[in-house]
Amino acid sequence: MNEADSEDIGAAFRRRGYELTDDLKKADAVVVNTCTVRQRAEDKAISQIGRLRKWKLARPDGKLFIVGCAAQKLGGKYLKNRFPFVDEVVGAKAIESFEDSLIAQLGPSPESETAHQNLFRSPQTAYVTIMRGCSLKCSYCIVPAVRGPAVFLSADAILEDAASKIKAGAKEIVLLGQTVNSWRGGKTTFSELLSKVLALPGLKRLRFMSPHPLFFEDDFTALLAREKKLARYMHLPVQSGSDRILKLMRRGYTRGQYLALLERLRAAVPDLAVSTDFIVGYPGETEEDFLDTLSLVEEGRFTMAYCFKYSPRTDRPEMAATVSEAAVQARLEKLLAAVKKNSRLVLNERIGKIEEVLFETETYGRASGNFAVRVKAGGAPGKIAEVLVTGAEKNTLSGKGLL
Ligand code: 5AD
Ligand code: SF4
Repeated sequence: MNEADSEDIGAAFRRRGYELTDDLKKADAVVVNTCTVRQRAEDKAISQIGRLRKWKLARPDGKLFIVGCAAQKLGGKYLKNRFPFVDEVVGAKAIESFEDSLIAQLGPSPESETAHQNLFRSPQTAYVTIMRGCSLKCSYCIVPAVRGPAVFLSADAILEDAASKIKAGAKEIVLLGQTVNSWRGGKTTFSELLSKVLALPGLKRLRFMSPHPLFFEDDFTALLAREKKLARYMHLPVQSGSDRILKLMRRGYTRGQYLALLERLRAAVPDLAVSTDFIVGYPGETEEDFLDTLSLVEEGRFTMAYCFKYSPRTDRPEMAATVSEAAVQARLEKLLAAVKKNSRLVLNERIGKIEEVLFETETYGRASGNFAVRVKAGGAPGKIAEVLVTGAEKNTLSGKGLL
C-alpha cells in the first residue's frame, strides 16, 4: 500500500515538473513515506527523518514531507516539535489530499495528468488501489487506527486506473487493499470486479494483495479455475496455527477453517501457490501454541512465509509482550528454518511441470505462482510463455522455454 501511495505522490510532483532522483544532494524535495506496522518500522522512519537534518541545512529552500502511517500515529505536532526542519506532515488518513499539502508548499500544478511511472516493481507491473483502510479488529494490528475503516473505490474508478496503467505499458496489474477481497461496489462482488479487470484489452496477468480468509465467496473459486490470466498464487496471511491464539487475535477463523479454505481453493486449482504471514510471541503464546504454528507450515504447503516477532502497538497492559525475547528469538529461528525447508520441497515439486512465465528480461521472469524463473534465452520484457521446469535452486526455478 505504501509503495502504491508513493507512486501517486511521485506523480503529483511530476505534474509540477519534478523528476525522481536517487541522489539526495540533487533533491529539491524529499518525501519520507513511513510505516508503523511494527515498532522497528517506526524507529527506522524516525532515524531516517533525523538524518535529513543535514540535507535541510544544506538546502534551506528544499521541502521535506513526512507522510504515511507513522506520521498519522505520531502526529504533525509531535513530529514538527521533534524535527523543526520538517515542512509538512501528512498522515495516512489524509494521503488522498496530499495534493492540498503540495499546493500549500509549492503552489498549484500546471498539469492535470501525468503518465504512470512504476517505481517499485518491474515496469510491466502496476499497482491499482481498490480499497483503503480496514474494518476488522485484529487485536495486534495498528492499521485500522492509522488508516481508518475500509473505504472501497468505485468499480469505474478502478477500471479507469487499471486501463490507463495498461495503456502506459503495464502487462500485469496488482489490485491492492488491506482486505482486498472484502471489496464491494453496490451489487458488484469482488469476483465480478476481477472479471471486469480481466476483460481489459492488453492485460496479461492479474494479481491481488492481500486477501483475508473471511471474504472468499463461492463465485471466486469458479473464477480462479476458469481464468488463466488470474495468477495461480495468493498471499493469504494466517498469523498463527493455534486456535487459542487465533481467537485472542480476533482473526475470525480457526486453523481447521483456514485449512479447509486452502483445500477448497486447491480443489479448483491444484497447483495454486500460497504464501503467508506468521506472528510469533503473541502475548500468552505457549510452546504448545507455537508448535501448532510450526506444524501448519508443512500442512499449509506454503511456498513462502514472512515471519514476524510480535510488536506491541498499544500501551494497553494486556497487549504487552509476555514471551521472553530469548524464547521469541528461538521460536522465530525454528519457524524460519521450517519455512525454508518447506519452500524447498514445494519448489522441487514444480520440477517437470510446465509454468506460465511473464518475462521481465530475456532470461528472467515470474511464474503465475509467483516463483522466480530463469531460462537461458527466449524471454523478452512483457512476453508470456510456457516454460518446462528442469531445476530448482534457492527461491528460483530454472527451465527451458517452450514454443
Ligand atoms: N506485530 C508483529 N507483526 C505484525 N503484523 C501486523 N501487526 C503486527 C504486530 N503488532 C504483521 C502481520 C501482517 C503483516 C503485514 O504484519 O503478520 O499480516
Ligand atoms: Fe490489520 Fe489485516 Fe487484521 Fe485489518 S485484517 S486489522 S489490516 S491484520
